Amino acid sequence: MNVNGRHFRTIWLKESDPKIVQIINQQALPHRFEILDLSTVEDIRRAIKDMYVRGAGLIGAAAAYGMYLAACEAGDGTFDRDLLAAAGILKNTRPTASNLAWAVDAMLSALSGREGIRAEKVEAARRGADAIADGDAEFCRNIGAHGCGIIEALAEKKGGKAVNILTHCNAGWLAFVDYGTALSPVYAAFDRGIPVHVWVDETRPRNQGASLTAWELAGHGVPHDLIPDNAGGHLMQRGLVDMVITGADRVTRRGDAANKIGTYLKAAAAKETGVPFYVALPSSTFDFTMEDGIREIPIEERDPEEVRYISGKTLSGAIETVLICPETTPARNWGFDVTPARYITGFITDRGIAEPSEAGIMKLYPEAAV
Ligand code: MRU
Repeated sequence: MNVNGRHFRTIWLKESDPKIVQIINQQALPHRFEILDLSTVEDIRRAIKDMYVRGAGLIGAAAAYGMYLAACEAGDGTFDRDLLAAAGILKNTRPTASNLAWAVDAMLSALSGREGIRAEKVEAARRGADAIADGDAEFCRNIGAHGCGIIEALAEKKGGKAVNILTHCNAGWLAFVDYGTALSPVYAAFDRGIPVHVWVDETRPRNQGASLTAWELAGHGVPHDLIPDNAGGHLMQRGLVDMVITGADRVTRRGDAANKIGTYLKAAAAKETGVPFYVALPSSTFDFTMEDGIREIPIEERDPEEVRYISGKTLSGAIETVLICPETTPARNWGFDVTPARYITGFITDRGIAEPSEAGIMKLYPEAAV
């Protein structure tokens, strides 16, 4: 996507030194656009854990580049063992999104037990990480093409009036390598002249909607309004939401979908008010080994300080972090919740639209049928 007229992906290798991975620092947005250099597995681990990079697809791609750096760091006689150790470290950073373990395992199976000199293995690791990043961008571009048709049909029904789309968290290009998932159909529709307007949930506690989705949409020129997390149900009751599109971090074979905390409440309100609720995801986010998402999907619990404090720009222009509760108030901070398949209208995938059931998903993914 373009930032001030220049095309950026969210992660890439530095042109002048391909042993350095460069990322857009998402902690600095929306107030500062900053690029960070990562040159060790530890740098990548910290970037994922502390959310300098975030979003299902991007943490997968970051972990793949982490495995490439692990190959650069690995000892001659200990290559496979060093890679396995790095895989464990990277997989341990964030538990919920499927893409992370999927990318690490893909790198491991491409590299482990590989014959040849070290330089060839490092080159293979680099090609493997590039392929995962390119694949992620391609998945997302296709999601845009498939989802755009749904928005277009709604626009026709509304006689050309803007289609109001509610989204939660950030599942735009910042959360992937490029294009995004939930926002990819929005960008595709906007670029084709279909009138769209986005309701952006602020997404407490880390405010990915307010700081990232709003920034992305403004950069692309898409009309939008930031709303408090609790406003969605009210807007749906008033007929002000034509559809909801969210991303997903892990979707089970029967269609239960983990996404940023608060998604389930939006889905329940959408079901109650008859608003179509779509989940957009790349193939790499399905976890066909799981069935019952509520019981089986691991839910990340993060530092309670993320709930107790909030960061932003003061009137004087300084970036500051302030406490929003009494000094001694305890807090809990679950990062994700699971929306049962029965609340979902359809999955917008890179292969097309899937019905929210095991049979519907298996029609698009016959290789996962048992
Ligand atoms: O904790 P985050 O910001 O990494 O959360 C993941 C997400 O970006 C969302 O849940 C998103 O909607 C899923 S798609 C990237």
